[in-house]
Amino acid sequence: MLANTLELVSEARRRGVAVGAFNTYSIELTQAILQAAEHLNQPVILQLGVASVKTGGEPLVRATVVAAQRAHVPVAVHLDHCADLGMIEQCFSWGCSSALADGSHLSFAENVALTRQAVALASSYHATIEAELGYLAGTEDGVTVEAVKASLTQPEQARAFVAATGASMLAVAIGNVHGFTPNPPPLDFERLSQIASQVDIPLILHGASGLGKENVQRAISLGVAKINVNTEVRTAFLSAIATWGLRVGPTPDVRRSGQDWLDLMREAIAAAQMVVTEHMQTVAMMP
Ligand code: 13P
Repeated sequence: MLANTLELVSEARRRGVAVGAFNTYSIELTQAILQAAEHLNQPVILQLGVASVKTGGEPLVRATVVAAQRAHVPVAVHLDHCADLGMIEQCFSWGCSSALADGSHLSFAENVALTRQAVALASSYHATIEAELGYLAGTEDGVTVEAVKASLTQPEQARAFVAATGASMLAVAIGNVHGFTPNPPPLDFERLSQIASQVDIPLILHGASGLGKENVQRAISLGVAKINVNTEVRTAFLSAIATWGLRVGPTPDVRRSGQDWLDLMREAIAAAQMVVTEHMQTVAMMP
């Protein structure tokens, strides 16, 4: 059933666990994520990135919302990392219940201004805004240890930021990075607990691919209630496709068993589902 993001995340926080939020790009990835959630009987968040929304448009967003409505577990649909208020409003009108209004690359004042506008917009759709304070470096930025340090969330700014914006959830930068990085810096858990002591809203951890169970569960124990995973799931899906291609060769014969579209998708879905399942167990089954 379609659920509200903030309700799922707040309930997880009350229970000392987190909700897994997985990026989807297609109906097949959505299926992989929902099958994992249904098998574990756990709530889940489906996330759409800006590039996916630009590519798939209304049909993709609405298909994701319908898939959430039909699921046998609570499922929220969220717009990930978006600085475009027009796209945020459009996604709310298509059924998303939350969005990350991403002003993290802006100055503090500009980030406050963007987030405030997004919060005002969200209220007319009964939707909620995740904000980001501090900047999440990513592989595309050619990340260095120095670059990561300069971008971390300042705990003393967090309280003022949340008060000024009215954001319902806060994404933190504590050394986490998007994607796989060759030598990721250790997470700054001291900083995370300082941020948690400054604000009374759920914290969000991006970049969970490659972080490992121990890091993720430690972050949850310090107040993180939504864990974002993308690269690992997408890579599993793509690896399955690549493996299938090697096995079948350059000219699939669709009349032969295992060589047609649905055969390929079944393998890719199973591979992605396995990775989602592992992450869902990590976030919901705290030691
Ligand atoms: P990863 O790709 O590192 O899992 O990060 C996902 C994410 O944070 C989406 O917002």
